[in-house]
Amino acid sequence: EVIIAPDHELATLVADAVERLLREESSPVLGLATGSSPLRVYDELARRHEQDKLSFAGARGFMLDEYVGLPISHPQCYRNVIDAEFVSRVDFGDAAVQGPNGAAEDLVAASAEYDHAIAEVGGIDLQILGIGTDGHIAFNEPGSSLCSRTRVKTLADQTRLDNARFFNGDVDQVPRHCLTQGLGTIREARHLMLIATGGNKAEAVHQMVEGPVSSMWPATVLQMHPHATILVDDAAASRL
Ligand code: GLP
Repeated sequence: EVIIAPDHELATLVADAVERLLREESSPVLGLATGSSPLRVYDELARRHEQDKLSFAGARGFMLDEYVGLPISHPQCYRNVIDAEFVSRVDFGDAAVQGPNGAAEDLVAASAEYDHAIAEVGGIDLQILGIGTDGHIAFNEPGSSLCSRTRVKTLADQTRLDNARFFNGDVDQVPRHCLTQGLGTIREARHLMLIATGGNKAEAVHQMVEGPVSSMWPATVLQMHPHATILVDDAAASRL
């Protein structure tokens, strides 16, 4: 399903889906994305927590990805980013939100443990996603296997350039590697909601929705998902 609407309406639709899940499921599992695309959703959920007493107390959260090679105190560690932008503003229980451990000595073992942890809680009910300008989801860069599991990936040059804005504009400070849920892992979530806004996402959105399924445009994997909602503003939809 593709929904074209202004940015704030997209955020309301995603927040509505999260709220429904929290109210209907006794132990809901949310998939959380970093990046600018879901920020309005997190603001809206924090507002509903504050004003409408929407509670995350019984919920679990799993992040999509994490940089490798940053000290765990670094403000751009995705774990710290999601805490600042969302988790600390609502009432998740202690250790209810997890991310891949990019600081682990054994990254292969940490990846397998992460997939195991997701499976152990019965999988993700609702996964929030953004999309990179090169069509990546989480950090599954072009060329990622459509069946991949959580693993180490090398970041594409384009992604490092896109993300340099979070590192004082200095691309040399952007890590070269990450741990990311695989496309196979992400596909197992029961409902995917992907948000894309702005003209710089138009080509990626066009490929994702209308292009042939291909590992060169990793987000095309959403075409194979039984319940995927793509939420775009006019600019991101301009090539559809
Ligand atoms: C980052 C993240 C993705 C995110 C994407 C788009 O590199 N790893 O999870 O969806 O790029 O980011 P933004 O929403 O800021 O455009």
